[in-house]
Amino acid sequence: MATVLDTPSHSLKEFRILPGYTPPDGNALNVSLATRLCSVPGGFLHLNTPFLSAAMQAVTGTEMAISMAQLGGIGILPVSQSIEDQCDKIDRVKRFKAGFQTNITTLSPLQTIGSVIEIMEETGYSTFPVTDSGDFHGKLIGIITDKDFDVRRDHASHVEERMRTDVQAGVDIDDLKEANRLMIKYGRGFLPIISSVDSTLQSVVFKRDLDKHLEHPNESIDQKKRLLAGAAVSTHPEDRTRVQCLVEHEVDVLVIDASDGHTHYQRQMVEWIKSKYDIPVIGGNVVTARGFEFLAEAGVDAVKVGMGIASGCTTQEVKATGRGQASSLMAIAAARDELARKEGGRYVPLISDGGISGPAEMAVGLCLGADSLMMGNFFARYTEGAGNMVRNVGGETVKEYWMEGSTKARNHRRYAQLKNLFFEEGITGYVPHLGSIYEKLPVVLQVLRASMATAGCRTIEEMHEKAVLEMQSPTALYDSDIHDMTPMNIDQQIL
Ligand code: IMP
Repeated sequence: MATVLDTPSHSLKEFRILPGYTPPDGNALNVSLATRLCSVPGGFLHLNTPFLSAAMQAVTGTEMAISMAQLGGIGILPVSQSIEDQCDKIDRVKRFKAGFQTNITTLSPLQTIGSVIEIMEETGYSTFPVTDSGDFHGKLIGIITDKDFDVRRDHASHVEERMRTDVQAGVDIDDLKEANRLMIKYGRGFLPIISSVDSTLQSVVFKRDLDKHLEHPNESIDQKKRLLAGAAVSTHPEDRTRVQCLVEHEVDVLVIDASDGHTHYQRQMVEWIKSKYDIPVIGGNVVTARGFEFLAEAGVDAVKVGMGIASGCTTQEVKATGRGQASSLMAIAAARDELARKEGGRYVPLISDGGISGPAEMAVGLCLGADSLMMGNFFARYTEGAGNMVRNVGGETVKEYWMEGSTKARNHRRYAQLKNLFFEEGITGYVPHLGSIYEKLPVVLQVLRASMATAGCRTIEEMHEKAVLEMQSPTALYDSDIHDMTPMNIDQQIL
């Protein structure tokens, strides 16, 4: 007979943290969110913000990877794209110079104004450079903004009839302060930078971006001061070429993208990478102590924890496999700590992956042993998320979010599925658009620090050691939510 564990599986939402003593210098401002992402020879790769953006098409593209690294975390570029595209994105993150944008949409002079209006609606941006070829690195020939045409009448006109050609550009500038000085001088919020050799567009600086780019004290950088970027690979032997290319493109960390990491295939891939390259490898996903031990033995540098609990995941429904995230973390953190205590043992950082919607669950996950948190849905909501921004019938701006096991993503390698017998393990849908990650994430981080301060902890390590959690009864959870009161809603004003 199968083994049946008769204790129920628990989710992060079932726990609350008891307050601990907060000393005079223990307030939120003195809490550090620095953490160990994974082991590297001689120590650990640290992050100042314990967050990874998920290796999902709808979440991590170049823009999200750059924002994550600037804000102290790391973005993981998904495996569900060609090797060339994935490596190109790694290059863009590595080459990124704060404030100098090199991946914005450029227009061709022959495009219709109708198509420009669509692009403006889709991206939310109102100023675009025009190049002779329409490509970003073409010769700059004009600028068009939403003020240069009439939305009702000009649909059939072409960009070349409406664009401004008296463009003031910076030549070969790579200093942000100098770019800012020119923008002030020209009285514009936008400065294209061109090459002195052939007037081709090199980058674009937006005034609105300056504040968010000038200072990032927590950014995640490598030894050459370039932003960190991670990339996912599958366990399929065909991905050995992908690994080789990513390493050549100087990816900082490889993440094995597999819904079930306790497999022969994962060990084979980890061992192969480790025998060839000196690069940190994050393995996963596992939800049992045995799965963790298996990956630690295979030589991974961190382990991702979670199965069947992601926001749009249907794995538990269709396959009955998975586990509540709190139970997974508790079982694995105990095994991890035991391994660290053993003679000749080592500390393997844990990444809690999936199902986190806000700082309360983040804090509980960190208390239960996670060193960092991987999130998809949470990051897909920001402007910088890789999914398209669209307007729903109610007129709200939402972002597309689809799971890697959905028909739309068809990431069959993550689920060890056969291409011709594919079944879904995740859905396709929408999440609300929250605005820019640069504006919103600092508040989330402050809430997390405040939660740690109340728990009487100043570091994530202290959360692992000292925090006291309590499982809640359904009535206690009822009390912990808003109850017996209606939130004020401006549409329902009392007469
Ligand atoms: P979320 O933050 O709850 O949306 O979860 C994101 C995580 O879901 C990812 O990091 C993956 O581990 C996992 N995931 C991605 N696609 C699927 C899917 O199709 N089914 C189940 N889990 C998925």
